[in-house]
Amino acid sequence: MTLAVGIDIGGTGIKGGIVDVDSGERISDRIKISTPSGGEPDAIVDCVLDLITQLGVDDDRMPVGVCFPAIVLHGRTMSAANVSKRWIGLNAEKLFEKALGRDIHFVNDADAAGVAEARYGAAQHEDGLVIMTTLGTGIGSALIHNGVLVPNAELGHLEIDGYDAESRAANSARENEKLSWAEWAERLQRFYSHVEFLFSPDLFIVGGGVSKYYEEFLPLLKLRAPIVPAELRNNAGILGAAALAVRPTAEQQAHGR
Ligand code: BGC
Repeated sequence: MTLAVGIDIGGTGIKGGIVDVDSGERISDRIKISTPSGGEPDAIVDCVLDLITQLGVDDDRMPVGVCFPAIVLHGRTMSAANVSKRWIGLNAEKLFEKALGRDIHFVNDADAAGVAEARYGAAQHEDGLVIMTTLGTGIGSALIHNGVLVPNAELGHLEIDGYDAESRAANSARENEKLSWAEWAERLQRFYSHVEFLFSPDLFIVGGGVSKYYEEFLPLLKLRAPIVPAELRNNAGILGAAALAVRPTAEQQAHGR
């Protein structure tokens, strides 16, 4: 059993758990803390410290993976679509490592969710190109080819019909504009058919809290590739961040997993 801590930082909540990365099972409670308003770096670091204490992690060597809603390039956060602009250009991985006194692995939230679905969820045993999308405050995306992540795809920020795609098609747009499922599905159709034209994926996965209502909107979409709900729901970020924090074995690397 290989254990790692997974932490998923979002605009409203910071969630964490201890994960057996061999099986993809969470072996601790899932702990959730509200994201401090403003989403400033120092306040979020404090919450993560608190969360690790609450999880009772006593082994300093247990790998810790943290996922976050921004482009993450070599540990540095390069964007901040729905969090404080102070994250832009920050060496977030170093900031957390200093505060926690241990190594961590810092990744984009949708990439973590995509890796989790590929290893333990809806895209297990799926070859070819899988596009994971998360529909929440923004639209997150992950490209996974034959089980290998191509990091930092930001498909939610494609410009479609003159708009940043997520401003029209994220779940927050549905809520804020009080769209019916059918009205929202029209916008999703525009988004997913454009992405399908650009990438020709073999499978789309749809995550984010709203994916539990997938029966209301996924059947309305007409695409060539199958489009299925995520299986790991709100655990995907935790599981993926934990999995990515553990160095893959030589055998996993050889198989691209
Ligand atoms: C951000 C992405 C993030 C997604 C989901 C987007 O606004 O640009 O980096 O993955 O929201 O949180």
